[in-house]
Amino acid sequence: MNGFASDLTHATYESPDIVALYARPDGLQKPEETLLSWLRPSLGSMDMLDIGVGGGRTTRHFAPLVRSYLGVDYSSAMIARCHEEFPAFRFAVADARRLEPVLDESCDLVLFSYNGIDHLDVHERGMALGEMRRVLRPGGLMVYSSHNANYLPAIIERFRFRIHSNLRETLRSLKWSSVFWAKNGLLQYRMPLAAGRVHDGTHSFRSSALYYIRPDLGVAELRRLGMVDISCAGNESRDFVPGDDPGLAHDPNPWIYYVSRKPERT
Ligand SMILES: C[S@@+](CC[C@H](N)C(=O)[O-])C[C@H]1O[C@@H](n2cnc3c(N)ncnc32)[C@H](O)[C@@H]1O
Repeated sequence: MNGFASDLTHATYESPDIVALYARPDGLQKPEETLLSWLRPSLGSMDMLDIGVGGGRTTRHFAPLVRSYLGVDYSSAMIARCHEEFPAFRFAVADARRLEPVLDESCDLVLFSYNGIDHLDVHERGMALGEMRRVLRPGGLMVYSSHNANYLPAIIERFRFRIHSNLRETLRSLKWSSVFWAKNGLLQYRMPLAAGRVHDGTHSFRSSALYYIRPDLGVAELRRLGMVDISCAGNESRDFVPGDDPGLAHDPNPWIYYVSRKPERT
């Protein structure tokens, strides 16, 4: 227990089945591939913090290339698995909301991949973003992905009750549709939702609600934090667009990668 609201999610990330799921040697997501190819020439002089590292999916690709690497996760089981799998690299148990072990302005690249930040409520999200900014050197890069509120109609459709020719499938649909609507009772009246928390079925509902935000509002959140050079890519895209691209407000991708820079000292 860490005293924060998301303890159901924390317990889920400590469980062996979920650790095994994230320890599979999966590749990079498309925007991460773009990022890696952009940064490859300079990674050798960068200190990287990989938050919510899970089973080390991103470790495999980034850690051998950077000057120094630290992977952190609030799940001690995930970190134990990373120590086993990648003994050459540094890992520590730490919470994104309080990155005490990491010194101010000590990192050039901070990554919180695969929507890990969305487990936090809006206040905690602000804490995590503030911590990410704190540990970055001026000019350093903040990278994370976050669920896209424009994708919520597709989530609602996924949980619509359907009658199938097969009774078992019909009962299955009834079960998950009931769970979805029991947990998201007023969601249909909140649509279109620009930003908010939704139980989207992740880990078969063994997590607390996840934060969804429309990409243009995600960009505004980064601007309020004082970040510059913001660009975004949908998870299915290799191409980033500038944060002021008008198409972002309507981007339909399930989740969005946000890359931004902490301003240089003037
Ligand atoms: C969806 S998994 C992604 C794991 C890994 N980054 C990947 O891409 O496979 C999210 C990870 O974030 C971690 N996490 C969630 N909230 C966190 C927090 N507040 N502080 C640190 N880690 C957190 C979870 O324990 C989990 O390992």
